[in-house]
Amino acid sequence: MEPSIYQYPDIFRRAHMESPGEISAEVIFLQQVWKRHRARPTRRVLDIACGDSPHGRLLAGNGHGFEVVGIDRSRTMIAAGRHKANALANLRFYRRPIEKFTLPGRPFDAAIFMSETFPVLVDNRSVLSHLKSVGRALKRGGLYCIDIDRQDPSPRVTRRTMWRERTAQAMGVVLGIREFHRPIAWHLPLHSIYELECTINFPAGAVTTRDLIPVRYTVPATLELAALASGMFKMVAAYCDLSCTRPLDNCRYRWMGVLRRV
Ligand SMILES: C[S@@+](CC[C@H](N)C(=O)[O-])C[C@H]1O[C@@H](n2cnc3c(N)ncnc32)[C@H](O)[C@@H]1O
Repeated sequence: MEPSIYQYPDIFRRAHMESPGEISAEVIFLQQVWKRHRARPTRRVLDIACGDSPHGRLLAGNGHGFEVVGIDRSRTMIAAGRHKANALANLRFYRRPIEKFTLPGRPFDAAIFMSETFPVLVDNRSVLSHLKSVGRALKRGGLYCIDIDRQDPSPRVTRRTMWRERTAQAMGVVLGIREFHRPIAWHLPLHSIYELECTINFPAGAVTTRDLIPVRYTVPATLELAALASGMFKMVAAYCDLSCTRPLDNCRYRWMGVLRRV
C-alpha cells in the first residue's frame, strides 16, 4: 500500500497549498473570536486533528501563555509535534481518533479544528459522537471553532478523473502533485471524494504518497443542525476568510463556524 502524505509532516503543508503566514493569521483570528464570544479569558485550548500542531506551538509559545493539548491519530505527526514543541511544557499531545475520545485533565476553554479537516467526518454517527466527545472535554460556555472550505459545486464524475496537476518544493525536494475527483453515489452526503497523489523526489529515490479523502457536504446550516442534534452545542456565529465583518455572501475561500457548549 502506498504511504500517506501525513507520514511526511514537513511536506504535506506544501502539497496542500498552504501559503506562508497563514497559520499565524489564523491564530490571531482565533484570539479575536474568543474575545468576542467568551466573557472569560481563554487559556486552555484543545487542538483537534492537530497534526504537528502549528497552531498549538504559536499559542503555547511566544509568551502567549496558552496551555494547549493536541490530538491526532497519526504517530508520525504526533512525534513531529513533540519534537518541534521540545522546549514548550504547555503543549501536550495525545494519540486519539477524532470520532470518539476522552482526555485526562481539566476541561478546556476552547477547542479548534483547523485546516478544513472537519468534513472528513462523513457519517452522521461519527459527526455526533465527535461533537459529544468535544462537548464533554469543554467547559460550559466554551467555544469550538471549526474551519471549513467553501464548497463550490464539484463535478460529478463517473470514473476517477484528474482535477489538477502542479509541482511544488518542500525541504529542498521537488514535489509532483496530482489531484483527482472520484465518483460518488448520489445518496451519500458527500461534496467530493478527493484523491491526493504526491511524488516526493528524494535524492535517494522517489516516493509516491496517496490519500483518499471523502469530504462531507458542510455549510453553515448543516453545521448548525449537527450542533443542535448533538445536544452539546449551539452555533453562535459563522465568519468567512478570517474576517469578523465580511458577509458570508462574499466568502472567497473558507469559513469558520463558532459553536458554544451549552
Ligand atoms: C490537514 S492535517 C491538519 C493538521 C493541523 N491541524 C494543521 O493545521 O497543520 C489533518 C490531520 O488530521 C488527522 N486526522 C485525519 N483523520 C483523523 C481521525 N479520524 N482521527 C484523528 N486524526 C485524524 C491527520 O492525521 C492529520 O494530521
